[in-house]
Amino acid sequence: MSIIPRKAVLNVKPYLPGKPIEEVKRELGLQDVIKMASNENPLGPSPKAMDAIKKYVGSINRYPEGGCFYLRGAVAKRLKIKPEQLIFGNGSDELIGLTLKAFVNEGDEVIVAKPTFLMYEVASTAHGAKIKVVPMRYFKYDLRAMKDEVNKNTRVVFIANPDNPNGTYVARHELENFLKGLPEETIVFLDEAYCDFVEEQDYPNGLEYLRENNLIVTRTFSKAYGLAGLRVGYGVSNPEIIKYMEAVRDPFNVNSLGQIGAIAALKDKDFLSKSKKAVREGKKFLYSELKAMGARYVPSVTNFILIELGPKSGEIAERLLKKGVIVRNMKSWGMENFMRVTVGKEAENKRFIRELKKIIL
Ligand SMILES: Cc1ncc(COP(=O)(O)O)c(C=O)c1O
Repeated sequence: MSIIPRKAVLNVKPYLPGKPIEEVKRELGLQDVIKMASNENPLGPSPKAMDAIKKYVGSINRYPEGGCFYLRGAVAKRLKIKPEQLIFGNGSDELIGLTLKAFVNEGDEVIVAKPTFLMYEVASTAHGAKIKVVPMRYFKYDLRAMKDEVNKNTRVVFIANPDNPNGTYVARHELENFLKGLPEETIVFLDEAYCDFVEEQDYPNGLEYLRENNLIVTRTFSKAYGLAGLRVGYGVSNPEIIKYMEAVRDPFNVNSLGQIGAIAALKDKDFLSKSKKAVREGKKFLYSELKAMGARYVPSVTNFILIELGPKSGEIAERLLKKGVIVRNMKSWGMENFMRVTVGKEAENKRFIRELKKIIL
């Protein structure tokens, strides 16, 4: 018997996730390992979310609420939008695939930047889309160059704002110029996974552009809200776009504990502001230490920093791992001169710097 996958599947270079902490401990015989590799919230989950989940856990014999009824209501109220403008996903990741399923036929064009969040390209490749890749300029999205690539066959343009792994953002005027005059057939997928951390005045709120554009704005409970393990994200768009995405969504895609946790986390303003503060202060510390070491980095509006340590960056990441500090080796992005570190708790940031100094100084 011979297995025949779809042609597009043969072209996929799978996404390589970081190693689990427990596995690193076991392999290296270490007691104390810290993970600063996946842009998670180092403060743990929102305490309100944990309480809500504990109360609900006895009901997980039931299927989840298929339409995320209560979560939908809570998010709609918070964002001052209509419930029918929302779609929920198993992480905001899932919304990438739903967008492709709903709007992109095999061979249709999509536009992605490089290097950016890898899942746009991975999912588009698996889907069989024709991918146009536009290089970043100075670690930033080059929206002018991306717009030059748009034509009537362009179904989706993926933009991460802010971007991962660069940590940079597209400013309001750049986004507005980009959106102006796009073909009606083109949908802009605006991924705002890290929007909660951005404090810059000229950072645009994607929701303000929904009325006049074919735009899907996605957000997540994985980062600032500390619920990465529960996998809850959402997309906001106009009801017509949402209707088509709903048509290709699995009925129970968001688990019940995720829904319960997300509703509680949304109300946990105290945790959100603590998380933002930890990131703000952690970045300040890391910047000043990196500067003192002579290590170059890309100033970030997110909860992670891209650090340039030259051709030995991958090796340095491996040596940090052996010391129990997991950072992101940027090899799979083709960025051999860089590593990416997620801002941790104060003690974690200090330990990372201490170990890095031992290696590079
Ligand atoms: C830019 C970007 N978008 C989306 C995601 C996916 O987040 P999730 O699926 O956990 O909501 C990530 C995760 O790292 C990300 O960096």
